[in-house]
Amino acid sequence: MRLRRYRSPEDASATYAVFHAAVRISAAECYDPDQIDAWAGPDLDDLTAWDAKRASAFTLVGEDADGVAGFADLLPDGLIDMLFVHPRLGGRGAARHLLEAIIAEARQRGMGSLTTHASRRARPVFERLGFVLVEDRPNNTVRGVVVPNAEMRLLLEQSLGDAVADQRDR
Ligand SMILES: CC(C)(COP(=O)(O)OP(=O)(O)OC[C@H]1O[C@@H](n2cnc3c(N)ncnc32)[C@H](O)[C@@H]1OP(=O)(O)O)[C@@H](O)C(=O)NCCC(=O)NCCS
Repeated sequence: MRLRRYRSPEDASATYAVFHAAVRISAAECYDPDQIDAWAGPDLDDLTAWDAKRASAFTLVGEDADGVAGFADLLPDGLIDMLFVHPRLGGRGAARHLLEAIIAEARQRGMGSLTTHASRRARPVFERLGFVLVEDRPNNTVRGVVVPNAEMRLLLEQSLGDAVADQRDR
């Protein structure tokens, strides 16, 4: 899978299709149908707002020979808001590939930590990448339906140079 930056507006429909399939098929392993309906939301005909959100974040898109297969993002405050892999490519390291690139970007920006609100399906994936549980969120609600998730955090080590500078500034 090759990674590249999100392109607006042409990636909107393919990323939305990945989101839809990932929620409806992969996340359905961990949530009941009412929860999946709430999370997937009503089918969007107009992707203007979807596209604007993806374009305003640092969004990476993963492509294979069949097209867009996954995407993930990084917000300026260190939140990973989106991580979705099409089920056709599930279990083959696509999420790891995306997350490693997001982590590298965060390090390059000098961020001290990353956070996410991990679904039950994604929690073991974030754990494999070193994220730790901050707080279970059993009452998290989406469109009025309880869809539990968990706040998780990854502390990013400082480089030796940064650590020395911090020490000096104290
Ligand atoms: C969660 C999701 C992104 C995972 O994508 P994926 O490409 O299948 O995941 P990967 O194959 O890259 O797995 C990454 C690591 O997690 C591990 N892992 C994946 N699923 C796991 C599971 N259910 N239990 C334990 N470990 C798991 C893999 O073994 C792998 O570990 P390794 O690289 O050390 O061998 C995908 O299933 C998805 O889009 N789910 C629905 C939407 C969702 O929940 N998104 C997250 C919103 S917060």
